[in-house]
Amino acid sequence: MLRTPGDFAEWRAVARGLLAGGVAPEDVNWRGSEEGASLFGAEAVPASAGVVSLPRELLEMADRVICHRDPQVPARLYRLVWRAARERQLLARTTDADVDWLRRTDKAIRRDIHKMHAFVRFRRLGQETERESFAAWFEPDHRILRLTAPFFQRRFYGMDWAIVTPDARAIWQGEVLSYGAGGTRGEVPDSDVVEDQWRTYYGAIFNPARVKIDAMRAEMPKKYWHNLPEAQDIASLLAGAGARVERMRETAVSLANPQTDKWRTRVIDDLAQTDDIGTLADLARGVGGCTRCPLHCDATQAVTGEGPGAARIMLVGEQPGDREDLEGRPFVGPAGQLLNEVLEEAGLDRTSVFLTNAVKHFKFEPRGKRRLHQNPTTGEIDICRWWLDKERALVQPDLIVTLGGSALRGVTGKSASITSMRGTVHELAGGTKLIATIHPSFLLRLPDHDRAAEERTAFVADLARARKLAA
Ligand code: URA
Repeated sequence: MLRTPGDFAEWRAVARGLLAGGVAPEDVNWRGSEEGASLFGAEAVPASAGVVSLPRELLEMADRVICHRDPQVPARLYRLVWRAARERQLLARTTDADVDWLRRTDKAIRRDIHKMHAFVRFRRLGQETERESFAAWFEPDHRILRLTAPFFQRRFYGMDWAIVTPDARAIWQGEVLSYGAGGTRGEVPDSDVVEDQWRTYYGAIFNPARVKIDAMRAEMPKKYWHNLPEAQDIASLLAGAGARVERMRETAVSLANPQTDKWRTRVIDDLAQTDDIGTLADLARGVGGCTRCPLHCDATQAVTGEGPGAARIMLVGEQPGDREDLEGRPFVGPAGQLLNEVLEEAGLDRTSVFLTNAVKHFKFEPRGKRRLHQNPTTGEIDICRWWLDKERALVQPDLIVTLGGSALRGVTGKSASITSMRGTVHELAGGTKLIATIHPSFLLRLPDHDRAAEERTAFVADLARARKLAA
């Protein structure tokens, strides 16, 4: 037997030694009786005894399949690599029993991974350092923690967490993803405030038009329900689903100005089939489930606009930052604080304007314990414009103020410099006025104190002008 079942590195080292030593699969006893070649003796075979090259696809599948609980797996995988070392095209033989087994088992593991990504729920443990600590209990079908933990590392980069499973635990404290012994459900508290956030999130992304009960049961099998705070809401959400679908039908979306641009047409078709946005709450729900560009993969959540539904002024920023991504609200981090100050100086009440962003998911690069903001590409801004346009159509502001270049691109669909647009009031199709100004984080980045003070004064003047125009 392997010392650590499911450990690919260990299995690979043993298999490599056996292959190099020319030990046939039928002569190996992977299950630990006295007969057959000694597994761990095989590790000692020098690498120079013969280098065997194997198809990358096979090794990638073996890396996953070794996590399967079936005790036959190490032996079956060894038989496959033994055969593949002699028959290059082995994987192309779809009717081969070993190949068929490999693909089916790999599929089962990938499904288990998908379930774990979807159904792990963290509970708050407390805060001893500046970072908060969370823990989650999960029982995957197979030993997949090693394969899933990096996903949670990317997703919950800024907090300390442990995921405890019966076989092993993964621990992240901002530096190294480490693994330890398995545990029990009792180690992880049953509920806390994070549950309310999950339930709100689930309620927000719940789309009754997509409900297919059987598919839902298959997708969210009952065995996971005890871990899922939102599971208790499913019955009531379903009960209200019929009425909501009816309302969605009545307010069917009309797609104004379909574009010829390939991306956009695809996005619009996609949305036309699945979404129906009649209110800001519908929009938040739609954006919450948006997967139309890769930015949703690593962000914690989508952040939609906030403010009065009939605001006269809409302020458009670039994208949520680290804080916004965690809190789910626009402009609550350092740039937001500066914006609050500047709005006040300009005589504008933050609660009277509608604040939103050109891009609804946080784009960042992990660096040490931090997530560093990255500018969205024009492609990402253009894909997300569908949502911004919807927000504009729902709020119908008289005036839009764009903060920075990405916002300007998001609103106009064109690349223009802020300098060329600043200082003039522009008019958008439909008569909405546009003022283009800088982004508050530009001020935060300026090293020169005098220049920053000058820029700040000009920024306040732009916002004061917006106030007067909208008055
Ligand atoms: N920067 C933005 O552009 N938007 C936010 O919501 C926060 C920071």
